[in-house]
Amino acid sequence: MSEYRAITKNALIENTKIEFDLFLKSGSNGHSSYILFSCGDELFSPERREELISRNEQKLYISTKDTDKYLKYQENNLKHVIEDDTKSSKEKSKVLYHVAENIMEELLINPKSGQHTERISAWVGNTVHHILEDDNTFSSLFEVITHDYRICTHSINTSVIGLLFGSFLSLKPQELNCLGTGLLLHDIGKITVPSTVINKRGRLTVDEFNEMKKHPKAGLDFLDHISSIDIQSLEIIIQHHENNDGTGYPYGIGGSDIHLLAHISRIIDVYDAMTSDRPYAFAKKPFPVLAEMKNEMSNCFDPELLREFICFLGPKDLRKKPGPENTLYSVPSVTRQM
Ligand SMILES: [Fe+2]
Ligand SMILES: [Fe+2]
Repeated sequence: MSEYRAITKNALIENTKIEFDLFLKSGSNGHSSYILFSCGDELFSPERREELISRNEQKLYISTKDTDKYLKYQENNLKHVIEDDTKSSKEKSKVLYHVAENIMEELLINPKSGQHTERISAWVGNTVHHILEDDNTFSSLFEVITHDYRICTHSINTSVIGLLFGSFLSLKPQELNCLGTGLLLHDIGKITVPSTVINKRGRLTVDEFNEMKKHPKAGLDFLDHISSIDIQSLEIIIQHHENNDGTGYPYGIGGSDIHLLAHISRIIDVYDAMTSDRPYAFAKKPFPVLAEMKNEMSNCFDPELLREFICFLGPKDLRKKPGPENTLYSVPSVTRQM
């Protein structure tokens, strides 16, 4: 394995201490060497940035042993990246995605720890800010999400798609925060399900499916003692497999007994699963998936929300985005009843 890895220089913020050495690569045909560009204790000044631009350096490198420091640096400076007008929408979306991957990987190792909630809330807040302030996030965020069904990727994808859709529905920022957090955490309980069941290539047996059905409750058990997680995010975790006609799990509730954010999550969850490669099925293209959701799975979803979702993914000029004075949905206030 190489001792160096390329990083996106767009994650570097002027006038910050980078805290790891930066290198430039020189040479070609398998004879490359890495030359020190700046030391970790140096400030990344505007002059240094200009130097990179004038030399037309596309890539910077760090030592692989500094990867954790780099990930931490990206996360600590996420707000600056999102608010930086010199960076493109895609550059910002890429940094957001990397940061989410790092948070989720650490969270999956220790899901009961409350120490990740502040990081999750900062990530969701920055993603909401990015979506609300930048008209290009629909394409830039969809470009960076991958089609892979590991818990980590699926959780980030659903959160990103959910926030874009929630913004399309004109949900309030606080509701978006709950939606983004709930979706990021919705499948956390799957780490209690045996990997033989999670990764099985064929149809699940009744017993295996019963094991799988425990994950919403297991997720809630991990998180409901953490007071900083909003009740509405917990509703998503426990209700994201409930169907509109009452045939879902764990409680078999339906219609208006399902929280609006959980209805939204049900749609996003199925859409991301079916458009991703899973152990038992290849990814399908968006249009056939939407057709299948509408024609063969309509019992699962709130029909009005599914119609909105199809409009949201369709050509942007199909309909006008509703303004705040014309908000289609408002989230009811809820009390903890689980
Ligand atoms: Fe799930
Ligand atoms: Fe899921």
